[in-house]
Amino acid sequence: MAYSASYTFFIFNFLFFSISFSSSNGDVPDDLLESITVSRMEKTTHLHFYFQEVLSGKNPTAVKIIGDGRGFGTTLMIDDALTQGLGRDSKVIGRAQGMYSSAAQNDIAFLMVVTFAFTEGMYNGSSISMLGRNHVVDDVREMPIVGGSGAFRFARGYALAHTVWFDPNTGDASVEYNVSVVHF
Ligand SMILES: *[C@@H]1O[C@H](CO)[C@@H](O)[C@H](O)[C@H]1NC(C)=O
Ligand SMILES: *[C@@H]1O[C@H](CO)[C@@H](O)[C@H](O)[C@H]1NC(C)=O
Repeated sequence: MAYSASYTFFIFNFLFFSISFSSSNGDVPDDLLESITVSRMEKTTHLHFYFQEVLSGKNPTAVKIIGDGRGFGTTLMIDDALTQGLGRDSKVIGRAQGMYSSAAQNDIAFLMVVTFAFTEGMYNGSSISMLGRNHVVDDVREMPIVGGSGAFRFARGYALAHTVWFDPNTGDASVEYNVSVVHF
């Protein structure tokens, strides 16, 4: 039984994932075949888009769900459009879905927990997960990419964000993102 389960796993890897694989030596007992290393070629992908946050009007894409304003603990749920160009009417290529919270007591820094879900082109249906600190007063903020799905399985990397436009009265903003990810 142990042999056949391992063997199935091995074939499964071979058929669906693997171009090349290696095992450390020829003496591996059959029931340790699961430890075979599957190696694939990594790619680096650079993505450039704009994050459009709308708090104003009848159809805001960012809604406060916790807290009393912009103070410590305030949390917003977002479903912001990601566009190809800077203008809000530019082509939508995905959504930034998730939330962010004011996470600094004596500063303006957010904990960002956001999925970039792509809806166009070769990345339609794939997503990237970002988790990090957004010290919004900095010109450029760096946040880690901690994973992904679809074309971005096993993704890791970083996002650079720069606020291009911000309306202090409404909180509406357009933020430029450059995302660099290594994935398979
Ligand atoms: C993206 O994928 C969805 C689901 O498969 C599909 O309905 C939609 O038409 C696709 N969009 C584009 C622009 O290809
Ligand atoms: C993104 O990359 C472009 C092209 O290299 C550059 O002009 C822009 O300043 C970058 N923006 C950020 C936020 O990194």
